[in-house]
Amino acid sequence: MIHIKTDDEVEIMRKSCQLAASVLLMIEPHIKAGVTTNYLNDICHEFILSKDAIPSPLNYKGFPKSICTSVNDEICHGIPSDRKIRNGDIVNLDITCYLNGFHGDTNKTFFVGSPRKKPAKLVSACGQAIRKGISVVKAGAHLGDIGASIQEYVEAQGYSIVREFCGHGIGRNFHEEPQVLHYGTYGQGVELKKNMVFTIEPMINEGKPDLRILSDNWTAVTMDGSLSAQFEHTILVTEDGYEVMTEIEGTSF
Ligand code: MF3
Ligand code: CO
Ligand code: CO
Repeated sequence: MIHIKTDDEVEIMRKSCQLAASVLLMIEPHIKAGVTTNYLNDICHEFILSKDAIPSPLNYKGFPKSICTSVNDEICHGIPSDRKIRNGDIVNLDITCYLNGFHGDTNKTFFVGSPRKKPAKLVSACGQAIRKGISVVKAGAHLGDIGASIQEYVEAQGYSIVREFCGHGIGRNFHEEPQVLHYGTYGQGVELKKNMVFTIEPMINEGKPDLRILSDNWTAVTMDGSLSAQFEHTILVTEDGYEVMTEIEGTSF
């Protein structure tokens, strides 16, 4: 069942979503060569608690940390550790906050040091891809329109789309219906209704789409070792379009 939010619930979700977005803004200056992913986790953890919220990933299905940190060939669900990030790495930080009974979910891929050419192209394509998906959202459109518009763009750039993970409805639950695929066919799938809230979070690989899960049972990495990038926003469906709930006015992401 897809939970359509009431206007009051939407107002509460704006708060959890804006908080998650503010964590990404807050952490950006800390993303420097030599810091560990644990260090980034701990800063985000303390920041979220200081805002009277809870980091949704912590203990979620046994996940041991408060954010996901996925570096280079890691697609998603990387577990913060003593690994030091290095100049030239790309690192995705996935932040989900639980505040006043509702979750807000967003992620972004950052460069460590100055961007190198190939990663910069991939990350920029992924940033374009999420915008393609968001742009078709409005009441009366279909979930397939989102997937198709992302797929069309990403494959034309010569990159591949990860199929094992998808966007998701979000609200009182971290993950709820519907599943939001990042590939598909225009006009197919569930029709979007006003006040549906879901994430769009394409993962794209420089090489093949195939993945494997590391022995930590969480970290998904590309099978061929190629780089992977991701961006995520929580999106509200409106009568004539959408609201990017995890976007902070006046910022670029
Ligand atoms: N935030 C991720 C998502 O976008 C889910 C992380 S689940 C966790 O859906 F357990 F790894 F935190
Ligand atoms: Co998500
Ligand atoms: Co997320």
